Amino acid sequence: MAGTSDAVAAAKRAAGYRAAEMVEDGMVIGLGTGSTVFYAIEALSGMIRDGISVTGVPTSYQTAMRAREYGVPLTTLDDNPVLDLAIDGADQIDPQHRMIKGRGAALTREKCVAAAAFRFIVVTDEAKIVPRLAGVVPVETLPFATKTAMAQLRGLGCRPFIREAVKKDGPVITDNGNFIVDCQFEEIPDPAALETAIAQIPGVIESGLFTRFAGNATIIVGAEKKCSVLTSADVVP
Ligand code: A5P
Repeated sequence: MAGTSDAVAAAKRAAGYRAAEMVEDGMVIGLGTGSTVFYAIEALSGMIRDGISVTGVPTSYQTAMRAREYGVPLTTLDDNPVLDLAIDGADQIDPQHRMIKGRGAALTREKCVAAAAFRFIVVTDEAKIVPRLAGVVPVETLPFATKTAMAQLRGLGCRPFIREAVKKDGPVITDNGNFIVDCQFEEIPDPAALETAIAQIPGVIESGLFTRFAGNATIIVGAEKKCSVLTSADVVP
């Protein structure tokens, strides 16, 4: 079963449920976006039915819709600017616990919520653990300045593509009303420097590089039988 979609779903489910165990009564938590977070929402739904009180800040319309469907009460960062923890998925995680996120185009709100939380719980499966970050880095851009931003992104060594929608003609429009530029990097020798360089481009809202969360990140690597839990103590120097 290893590597099959059933096995991957089982691993994601295990990670999501393990993350929910870290949520305590009375917490206000960030709710990331994606298929692994979905399982955490499902688990939280059961815990809420059993009597604990939890409120979530959703990072996307998708998560807000799922949370409402599953009876998880929602709030906003305006009302709760400090969160007890945030639960979110990732696309790649390296040995220094730097990450690439944004496959689902929710990266900007995900980074805001992660930065507002005391603990960042990352739920993932083994396939996302990589020796080094490489490939597509999603970048949210202001439509007005996307072409000029793309020229500068190209200067950082990538091939940038505006992400196209699947069931809509034209570009993906994020939940914030912006575009996503997928930047294809052959290699990323210094992810933190790249995150900083991308952030300085006018018209860039945020990138999917999450390089500064290793200190408060707990990474739950789901597996069918037993999840592994990685903390800052496991960061490879
Ligand atoms: C959303 O924009 C992404 O950052 C997701 O959190 C990430 O792609 C993980 O998604 P899955 O849990 O569906 O793999």
